[in-house]
Amino acid sequence: MEFIHNYKRIATVFLIVLLFFCFTNMVSARPKDKDRWNKKYDTEIFLFGEKPIPFLAQNIHLLPKGKALDIAMGEGRNGVYLATQGFEVTGLDISEKGLEKAHQLATKNNVTIKTQVVDLETFALEPNSYDVILCTYYMQRDLYKKFQAALKPGGMIVVETYNIDYLKYARFNRKWALETNELLDTFKDLRVLRYQDYDDGKEAYSSIIAQKPKP
Ligand SMILES: C[S@@+](CC[C@H](N)C(=O)[O-])C[C@H]1O[C@@H](n2cnc3c(N)ncnc32)[C@H](O)[C@@H]1O
Repeated sequence: MEFIHNYKRIATVFLIVLLFFCFTNMVSARPKDKDRWNKKYDTEIFLFGEKPIPFLAQNIHLLPKGKALDIAMGEGRNGVYLATQGFEVTGLDISEKGLEKAHQLATKNNVTIKTQVVDLETFALEPNSYDVILCTYYMQRDLYKKFQAALKPGGMIVVETYNIDYLKYARFNRKWALETNELLDTFKDLRVLRYQDYDDGKEAYSSIIAQKPKP
């Protein structure tokens, strides 16, 4: 009897400790991301460079001028480029350090941008508000699905990130890599203007530009 009583007590304590760890992990997941990215960006060097991704620069003529939202802007290589091309740019990111560097890059390029520190896991996008929504190397599938509603009619998304072929070249978690044709599938209700699966033997990623239909 005594043994069963002790066993129950130990099991209860074990369960409480387990629940405590699960809970603290759940509530601290975002501050961990924020700290991790703030630490990464705490260097003079621009980790992702100061130039836009080639896919954006090559296709800039397709994008409708106006309000552009740079999702997970980081140090601003793409958003600042859009500002130099006459777009009114707002950048969102969880890392204030990254956005601070984005403002430095904007000043260096004689443009201004707006930025907002947000957790995209919980942030709500304004409906029918943007001419361009850009999202590069940030994978959040449920958020991708909300881009269409946030675009103005005729507005365009530009999305690029690693795909599953990238796993040949780097240790990378498969769940963060795009599946074959995933971007085409996610944005199937938009008009696809450009799409590529890029693979140069070192890196592999997919890129898309697609337009929200006008009524
Ligand atoms: C690989 S970097 C890409 C930065 C930028 N888009 C580029 O291509 O240069 C990923 C970015 O996502 C941001 N990030 C990660 N988790 C986030 C979250 N929950 N909410 C907002 N931003 C987040 C990081 O701070 C980081 O700047």
